[in-house]
Amino acid sequence: MDSRRALSFGAAADVYALARPTYPVDAVRWCLPPDATRVLDLGAGTGKLTSVLLGLGIDVVAVEPDDEMRARIDPRATALEGSAEQIPLSDGLFDAVVVGQAWHWFDREVALAEVTRVLRPGGTLGLLWNLINDAEGWPLTVAEVVGMEDRASFVQESDSRPYDEQDGLEPWARELFRHTQVADAELVVANIASRSSVILLPAEDRDALLERVRHAVPEGRFLVPWVTDAWRAVRPG
Ligand SMILES: C[S@@+](CC[C@H](N)C(=O)[O-])C[C@H]1O[C@@H](n2cnc3c(N)ncnc32)[C@H](O)[C@@H]1O
Repeated sequence: MDSRRALSFGAAADVYALARPTYPVDAVRWCLPPDATRVLDLGAGTGKLTSVLLGLGIDVVAVEPDDEMRARIDPRATALEGSAEQIPLSDGLFDAVVVGQAWHWFDREVALAEVTRVLRPGGTLGLLWNLINDAEGWPLTVAEVVGMEDRASFVQESDSRPYDEQDGLEPWARELFRHTQVADAELVVANIASRSSVILLPAEDRDALLERVRHAVPEGRFLVPWVTDAWRAVRPG
């Protein structure tokens, strides 16, 4: 894993908090056992997923390694410094562990052992990714301009899974949830500017790329179409 990219987000934490979409409540609920009261948000960033969980009345612990990102998490959650590979919490504490847009940055094997350790038997691991729905129109153009691989059309066509067959959590299930975000050109540009691949570009290249994005999107206010790709697995009881 490219750790420079994985830990680059803090440099654009304000832009990230402003421009990234949230997660649909239905998708978050789908990731949890029906009776969940205590949930760990792992790689919590600025707390987008944490906020949805708090809205469901859940007691949330948010673990995030980056100080700039962690500082923006809703204070109603317990925010801790830590990583997926070293979760600073005791065994069997959580009904669920959820990961938004971050599982691909973790050392999967080590993280799975840690997640399994902190889950109670019957607890769930939920993985979520927001993907732009690039079926047509300006989202397709933007996805092409930015060279996005995390776009809905690629993911729906691919059979790659975020886990190994022998990982010990089962059964795995997957659902796609469509949603939209009200935006204007500035918000879309800010969203693209919060991507690790863009944060790390030389300033001149970044400005040129963002200018191309600005020209590709409509004027005024419009809806950005998103697809949340959600995966869920259970720790055997
Ligand atoms: C794209 S952001 C997603 C943030 C948040 N979960 C959300 O949905 O908005 C990825 C986050 O993963 C964090 N991260 C990167 N490597 C990590 C690791 N090994 N363990 C825990 N978090 C990590 C980054 O600091 C960053 O905040």
